Amino acid sequence: DASFDNLARQFSHLPLIDKLPNCFPDINPVDIYRAHITSILSDITGADKSVIYPVLQWTATLDKGDLMLAIPALRIKGKPDDLGKQWLEKWPGSPLVETPVHSGAFLSFFFKAEPMAKTVIPMALQHNKDFGSNPANGLRDQNDPSKGRQKIVIEFSSPNIAKPFHAGHLRSTIIGGFLANLYRSAGWDVSTVNYLGDWGKQYGVLALGFEKYGSEEELVKDPINHLFTVYVKISKEVAEEKEQADKLKADGKEDEAQKILDNGVDEKARSYFKKMTEGDEQAISLWKRFRDYSIERYKQTYARLNIHFDEYSGESKVSEDEMQQAAAKLKEMGLAHEDRGALLMDFTKNVPGKEGKMLGKAILRKKDGTALYLTRDISELINRYERYKFDKMIYVIASEQDLHVKQFFKIVRMMGRDDIADKCQHINFGLVLGMSTRRGTVKFLNDILRDVGEHMHEVMKKNEDKYSQVQDPEQVADRLGISSVMVQDMNGKRINNYTFDLSRMTSFEGDTGPYLQYAHARLCSIKRKAELSDDDIATADLSLLTEPMAINLLRVIAQWPDVVQNVLKTLEPATILTYLFKLTHTLSTSYSHLRIVGSEPEVMKARLALYNSARVVLYNGMSILGLTPVERM
Ligand code: ARG
Repeated sequence: DASFDNLARQFSHLPLIDKLPNCFPDINPVDIYRAHITSILSDITGADKSVIYPVLQWTATLDKGDLMLAIPALRIKGKPDDLGKQWLEKWPGSPLVETPVHSGAFLSFFFKAEPMAKTVIPMALQHNKDFGSNPANGLRDQNDPSKGRQKIVIEFSSPNIAKPFHAGHLRSTIIGGFLANLYRSAGWDVSTVNYLGDWGKQYGVLALGFEKYGSEEELVKDPINHLFTVYVKISKEVAEEKEQADKLKADGKEDEAQKILDNGVDEKARSYFKKMTEGDEQAISLWKRFRDYSIERYKQTYARLNIHFDEYSGESKVSEDEMQQAAAKLKEMGLAHEDRGALLMDFTKNVPGKEGKMLGKAILRKKDGTALYLTRDISELINRYERYKFDKMIYVIASEQDLHVKQFFKIVRMMGRDDIADKCQHINFGLVLGMSTRRGTVKFLNDILRDVGEHMHEVMKKNEDKYSQVQDPEQVADRLGISSVMVQDMNGKRINNYTFDLSRMTSFEGDTGPYLQYAHARLCSIKRKAELSDDDIATADLSLLTEPMAINLLRVIAQWPDVVQNVLKTLEPATILTYLFKLTHTLSTSYSHLRIVGSEPEVMKARLALYNSARVVLYNGMSILGLTPVERM
């Protein structure tokens, strides 16, 4: 087709390459080199191309080369060092790569500058927002697109109505949003699910609280804060009741204590919730309004984070009948047993060895017949599989719930559904320590975002000149604030804890969100100021990019599609961030060497093409992370 002809012409300086599995030379520049080096090495070593190609690895630091080969990976007899020497002697020379550098068991390959410039830059500029993503990743069969795309369901965020949106929910939201973007860019068919905590006795407590302390007006105006306030007030009553009863019990006045409990809020809440589970219309309709208003508000906040949920599911959506059936089945199979009216699962007896010990015991059904968090998750997963027929299901849940997740995955297996459990993955993450803002302890996502946004606004105002040129400073400040929070969150490995630090994360120095945004805005400003058309840039003579700084920058840009492939394996946002900081650091050292203003017109065009490619990559990387790159700040 036309676009392919165009590409073929564009890259006519390149040697012909073989079609290999997982080789995408029209969208990943490094694959061209991989295929080329593979064919040379195959001639020299006699190894099969399908063995060589996948072991030509990208490097974390460019001093190790653009690609690297661990000689033993070719499985050829001989000492790696000797083999390396022999192969080097036979190296025929290449238009694309320098003679490899041999060191012990490794060969490093360095790309030649000019063909690289002519490959990487046109590819980045032409594919633009798609540069880096490979829609073939998500195909059921890479050789046959008609077989369709793989389906992934990602469950994340999942806050509890009327309770604080705490740090665990924040991290789940950020990481889940990133995973959804990542899989979408990789061509998967993605569905996002928010599994709300919206069911249980506490919603009986909340309803009673609303009767006493609630206001219709407040509910409509600010449902999240209002419901929380109501919940705090009524919970205090519950606590006081309990305290009173405990005191009476301690004084031996059992009967009086029981009387208080029997007439107390807690008991009323229990029967209220019981009514809810039986489908009582009035009870359900009040609860449904709490839920609907809260969701409406959550949606506004998620939108600021570029996050959308295809489904607002929740604990309430799990059918009581199905849970009873699941529990009955486990009992029938002899896996669960009645214990003082409750249904118990004793893994220590049912699962051999260490695993059983680690899983411990769990309650599936309470004495009063109501199901629990664990049982709901089991039923919901089985249902979800029926609904979505997914190829993969990811749960983004704090590592505090590792045991819970292990238990419910295990129970699904014990019910004979390995087919489902095999497709599930728990993406966990560590704690956020000291999450508080200038106004005190944080309760809601909105409070955090408002706080960092205001802070960034103050910072922006300090530069009056620039500030006056920003069209909608409030919006830009909001985006900078959000970037601060998100980058801080994604900068380390997911499993690590980190300390919430407002002043560090909003700084323009160091590896922060504002630093990335600044780097992006600067590239946009370079483009604006140069006043060259896209056509000028497209026809630039790229052989003029000869300076070491330019070549280094090119080499970093070329790695981007490989970085995306790698992050599909690690599922760590930090994999992308580390790379983006490498890119932005390389950029910031190159500005003084690769000036635009004052250069020869042709050099100017070539450099702008280079910077523009960097901008494309930075934009795409930030977008996968869920950030909104700003053009001015
Ligand atoms: N609502 C729960 C909480 O706040 C998180 C839900 C996680 N998802 C799940 N399928 N259990 O702790």
